[in-house]
Amino acid sequence: MSVRISPSILTADFANLETELGRIANADLVHVDVMDNHFVPNLTFGPRMVESLQAVSTLPLDVHLMIDDADRWAPGYAELGAYSVTFHAEAAADVVATARRIREIGARAGIAVKPGTPIEPYLELLPEFDQVLVMTVEPGFGGQSFMAEVMPKLGLLRNALKRTELDVWLQVDGGITEETIAIAAEAGADTFVAGSSVYGAGDPAAQVDALRVAAMLKGH
Ligand code: DX5
Ligand code: ZN
Repeated sequence: MSVRISPSILTADFANLETELGRIANADLVHVDVMDNHFVPNLTFGPRMVESLQAVSTLPLDVHLMIDDADRWAPGYAELGAYSVTFHAEAAADVVATARRIREIGARAGIAVKPGTPIEPYLELLPEFDQVLVMTVEPGFGGQSFMAEVMPKLGLLRNALKRTELDVWLQVDGGITEETIAIAAEAGADTFVAGSSVYGAGDPAAQVDALRVAAMLKGH
């Protein structure tokens, strides 16, 4: 199984994002957290910032929308050229229609679930998605502690996928460190978002490599 590392720029220096992207050039993706101060109690950036990041990034943009009314807004991020657009199940009225729209535009479609949201209702919808994001903290802020109690969701997803030919990435986001990434990899995740552990490190690129090694040692 391949391992993908997607550093979150949430804890990067917002005044110097192009430079900050350059510090993680060995990553697989760059995770962009869009927050609207409604779905989560925090505000980051919107389409214009994503468009500017897209223009300077050498890595594909892994956009994580933490915004209400995802049905309305998510396709616009795909139109900007984002590689993947992940929206929250809790924020969409019609997750299938929204995912189809994102795919039609040409981006990968992702669905995210908060720690308290069961994954069971989405298992039969897996063909509609390219990636599933299992939140390992309450969305909204970087620097929180990993919630190991959500790991059974990864097992359920991995088992459901085993019975298919689908290549759906299983992503975790929140509190990912060299220790917790091993737990998530063992549980079945293959795509790992890490914010503070990467940008809080003296050498973010070295930390990306260290996370990758830790995940590969435990991956399936
Ligand atoms: C939290 C965001 C995360 C955040 C992770 O709502 O979705 O992507 O940046 O940050 P860490 O790795 O510090 O938990
Ligand atoms: Zn995120």
